Amino acid sequence: MLLTADPLWQLTAACADDMRPERLDLIVGVYRDDSGASPVMRAVRAAELRLAQRSPSKAYAGPSGNPRFAALLTDLLLAGADLSSRTVAVQSVAGTGALRLLAELLATTGPDRTVHLGTPSYVNHAGILAAAGLRVATHPVQDMLAAVETARPGDALVIQGCCHNPSGFSMPIRQWDLLSAALVRRGVVPFIDQAYFGLGDGLDADLAGMRRLLRAVPFGVVAVSGSKAWGLYSERVGAALVVGELPGARGLLEGIARTSYSQPPAHGAMIVEEILGDPELTACWRSELEAMRRRLGRLRTGLASRLGDMPGLPEQRGMFLSLPLTAGAMERLRVEHGIYGLPSGRINLAGLPESRIPEVADAIRQVV
Ligand SMILES: Cc1ncc(COP(=O)(O)O)c(C=O)c1O
Repeated sequence: MLLTADPLWQLTAACADDMRPERLDLIVGVYRDDSGASPVMRAVRAAELRLAQRSPSKAYAGPSGNPRFAALLTDLLLAGADLSSRTVAVQSVAGTGALRLLAELLATTGPDRTVHLGTPSYVNHAGILAAAGLRVATHPVQDMLAAVETARPGDALVIQGCCHNPSGFSMPIRQWDLLSAALVRRGVVPFIDQAYFGLGDGLDADLAGMRRLLRAVPFGVVAVSGSKAWGLYSERVGAALVVGELPGARGLLEGIARTSYSQPPAHGAMIVEEILGDPELTACWRSELEAMRRRLGRLRTGLASRLGDMPGLPEQRGMFLSLPLTAGAMERLRVEHGIYGLPSGRINLAGLPESRIPEVADAIRQVV
């Protein structure tokens, strides 16, 4: 029994306690294989074996964490010396930690700044921004451009880099370009959250829009989560990137880290460093990530084709599927069918075994 006051984890605990054989956990965004296990990637295992043999030091690494990991991750994400050379990157405590570091950086460097957040969004976004002392203004997520037009210079806009949580929306390039132009014209700072790269349309396709935007704007920040792409959820791998003009960015980020957790955990970052520093392991990781992406695509089209009258499902991307169901319908799915998703209608596709698509589609039809 998981002891927690957090509603998301309470739901997870209720699911774990549900003894019905048909019980299905589609709650938290963790990749699972067809047997329901959250697998350790082969590239990760190989990197861990190498690390175990070398037994690298456990000495303190400093508030910026592992510099080679941060440099390799920056090169992967930004793909080009023009962007990497004007980026300051520090290792963070996963994507959440990067969001918090960058939120505090934006609060410190812009005390009058408002951060504009499209809703619905990742459930933790508003809380992280508010905890950093930022003023948060929300707008319907599809009205992002309009929000930029009414923002004040120096404000920031939260943008999910791809596979938006929860809507599954990946912005087409044309929309990234329109957004870049508006951000530059209005002097608004992009605050990009990259959590699901590689799980939408492919690694480079998922990052292309962000790279174009960062080339166009004078300054932007990126919170990177290593949790999903490497399946390293509990290792807390991530990085905070500051791209462009912000004098003293590293000192500011290190100051924030120093007074909250001092330094990030080493093991997960060493695994990613080992993989990205070795072409063979990188190729292995890329092909495993691609296999995960393809499986999510098959699950999405399989379920969507059985729910043919629900529009927009096949166009969604990433680990989740956002079903147009009410909280009441989601409760019926849980109570009557043992299928656990979020009250918002979001389900974790990766938790759905392919053989159970017909049964889950029937259950969804019954509760609509
Ligand atoms: C959009 C988004 N950003 C950030 C995160 C945080 O990820 P992490 O586990 O790396 O802290 C998540 C996790 O679900 C997410 O969905």
